[in-house]
Amino acid sequence: MLNTAVYITKQIIDITCSLNTFAIIPLHQRHPSQNEKKYLLQVLEDGILSGGGTFLKRCEHWFEEILTSPKALLTHSCTGALEISALLLDINEGDEVIVPSYTFVSTANAFALRGAKLRFADSLPDHPNIQLETILPLVNSKTRAIVVVHYGGMAVDMDPILDFAKEKKITVIEDAAHSIHANYKNKPLGSLGDLSCFSFHDTKPIGCGEGGILAIQNEEFIEKAVWMYDKGTNRQDFLAGKSIDYQWKSLGSSYNATELQAAVLLSQLEESDRIFSMRQKVWDRYIFNLQHHLKYATLPKQNSFGNHNTSIFYILCDSIIRKQELQKALAKNDIQSAGHYLCLHQSPYIASHNNDFCPNAVSIEGRLLRLPIYSGLDLREVDRICEVVMGI
Ligand SMILES: Cc1ncc(COP(=O)(O)O)c(C=O)c1O
Repeated sequence: MLNTAVYITKQIIDITCSLNTFAIIPLHQRHPSQNEKKYLLQVLEDGILSGGGTFLKRCEHWFEEILTSPKALLTHSCTGALEISALLLDINEGDEVIVPSYTFVSTANAFALRGAKLRFADSLPDHPNIQLETILPLVNSKTRAIVVVHYGGMAVDMDPILDFAKEKKITVIEDAAHSIHANYKNKPLGSLGDLSCFSFHDTKPIGCGEGGILAIQNEEFIEKAVWMYDKGTNRQDFLAGKSIDYQWKSLGSSYNATELQAAVLLSQLEESDRIFSMRQKVWDRYIFNLQHHLKYATLPKQNSFGNHNTSIFYILCDSIIRKQELQKALAKNDIQSAGHYLCLHQSPYIASHNNDFCPNAVSIEGRLLRLPIYSGLDLREVDRICEVVMGI
């Protein structure tokens, strides 16, 4: 009961401080890419809006090439891509899936929907990511999958996890919601696990309102994934003229994106280098301004094995109180800021039937504060934000 009350109070503080409707500097702002209106018009003129057209195929090919993936499916959301991943594992009662505690609900919910027992891995002491050491205590003979989240597009140390999972025949899924354009040891994030899931929600650097990609690295999953994507049917074969009709072949649902989403996404993908270089300038200015001047907070930890992608700029305050103080000061100056996830292992839905212990994740939940970052953020505005941050 007390936990639930604390959880709700924390949520209210985060929401009220982050959703200041009068904020002049928002936390996120969509990048309007050059060709999106032209492409949207083209879809409207072609008259087929539902999906499966050229824009959708071009987006899928873009990911297949970038990730050297044998198959990518454009979904209506990353949540949808995660749900297909969970369906593909054919989870039965008693199966266990390891997810980070510090993540978005969809990472875990997709597997809970299939009846998996969730085990929650702790974050690193100084970073939201999980690592093999925090996963190992949760592994047993029932473990079917490990889901990693590359927080803010900063790579999880994948090699030890992949080696371990291969030896134990455990599926690895990358929740790459934040991870387009980021690397681990020169390989793109989203190309490392058996399956990976990206998000193009408006809050992401590359967005089309709502959208996602399921990228399949493990070829064993391709045939079923295509059925599951299309209501559990072989309709894709029918559309390609490979079958005279289509039938119900497996469990599935309606996971596809529309051509309207794909048209906007393609325009964004074509401009992605420019979008990320504009964001990088903002990131660099934050680092330049803050690196020697933060008394009560630290900058995002960079690791040696990956290139991050500027998805999220955050600082880790030394206490919850300091974070709240800073959020108030920023809000007073019309600057939006926000914490991020609330640890899933102590969420109202799961807490009563979960005993996992994630002290690092809880500590990070209380102290992590996201600051505005988007392609159109003026560097003078970054300076103004930094002045408020350095004043605390
Ligand atoms: C780590 C993570 N996974 C999954 C999702 C869900 O993405 P979508 O909104 O595209 O379903 C999010 C959303 O922000 C996320 O942060």
